[in-house]
Amino acid sequence: MAEMIGAESHLAAHAPLRDLARGRNKLIGAAVAVSPLADEERYREILAREFNLVTPENAMKFGPIHPGPEEYDFSGADAIVSFAKTHGMMVRGHTLVWHNQLPDWITNGTYSRDQLAAILREHIHTVVGRYRGNVRFWDVVNEGLTDDGRLRETVWSRVIGPEYLALAFQWAHEADPSALLFYNDYNGEGLNVKSDGIYQMVRSLRDDGVPIHGVGLQMHVGLRNHPRPCDVLANQERLTALGLETQITEMDVQIQKAPGSIAERLKEQARIYHDTLALCLAAPRCTAFVTWGFTDRHSWIPHFTHHRDQPLLFDDAYQPKPAYEALRAAFLEE
Ligand code: XIL
Repeated sequence: MAEMIGAESHLAAHAPLRDLARGRNKLIGAAVAVSPLADEERYREILAREFNLVTPENAMKFGPIHPGPEEYDFSGADAIVSFAKTHGMMVRGHTLVWHNQLPDWITNGTYSRDQLAAILREHIHTVVGRYRGNVRFWDVVNEGLTDDGRLRETVWSRVIGPEYLALAFQWAHEADPSALLFYNDYNGEGLNVKSDGIYQMVRSLRDDGVPIHGVGLQMHVGLRNHPRPCDVLANQERLTALGLETQITEMDVQIQKAPGSIAERLKEQARIYHDTLALCLAAPRCTAFVTWGFTDRHSWIPHFTHHRDQPLLFDDAYQPKPAYEALRAAFLEE
C-alpha cells in the first residue's frame, strides 16, 4: 500500500500539464507560431507533451490567411491544425474580425457597406468552413471595444456599422454550427468600465439570439499590473449567468520594470499564474486556460514592449520555470 501511494505521487510529480488538466476537466493551451513548430524539435515535443489545446498565434489572422482579394494562404494554419490532430489537441481559432494584422487590400480599400459586408461574409465562411469540425472554438471578434467600454472605431464598425458584430457571429455559426463562438478582449478580465462594456454588449447579443457562446479573457498582465483574482471570478460569474463559457485565452506575465531580483520576480510571476489558474478551476464554466506561447524564447512581449522579458512557463532553453511548477501545483490542489 505504502508502495502504491509512493508510485502514485511519483506519477503525479511527473505528470504533464495536459494530464493534470484532463483530471480537472479543463483544457490547457498555448499560442503556437508557425516557424518554431516547423524548425524546433524541442518546441514540438513540449507542446505535444504539455498542452491539449493550441491557438495559432498569427496564422489564422486576416492578413496572413487572406493576403489578396482572391488569395488565401492556409499553409501555416493547416500545419498547426494537423499537428493538433496528430497529437490529440483541440484548436482555438484566432481570429476572424480584428482591426490589426489586416491586409493592405482591406486597410486601403474603398468599399461600400454592402461590398465590405460581402467580403467579410465570404472570409468567415471560407476560413471557418475549411476547418469545420477541426476548430472547436473561434475568437469571432477580437478587441471590438475601447478601454472605456465603447464600440471601437475600426474599418468594420465604420463601414459596415455596429451590426458587424452580430453578423460576424451569424456567419461563423452558418459555416460551422458545432463551433463555440467567442468574443475575446484584453483589460476586461476583472471588474472595470471595460468589462462592464463587454458584459452589456454580449448580453444584448444573447438577448437578440445571436449565436455567441463564450467570452475570452486575454490576461496579458505584469507583476505590477494584474486584476484581482476575486474580481476576475466575479466577472466570470456574471458572464456565466448569461449562459456563456469563459476562457483565459492569452495569458503572459511581464516581469520587466518591477523591483526585486530575477529569482524574486519569477516567484511572484509564478504566484500570479497559480492564482489565475486556480480561479479558472473554481469557475465551473471556465473551460480553458491558455498562455500566449509557452517558452520565453518565442514570446511576443520583447517585440511589443521593446524590453527584454521572461513572461512564460519555460525559459529560453526550454527549461520549466517556477510558473510551470505553479500551474502543476494549482491543478493538484483540491
Ligand atoms: C500578437 C502576436 O503574438 C504577435 O506575434 C504579432 O506580431 C501581434 O499580435 N492580443 C491578441 C493577439 O489578440 O492576437 C496578439 O498577438 C497579442 C494581443
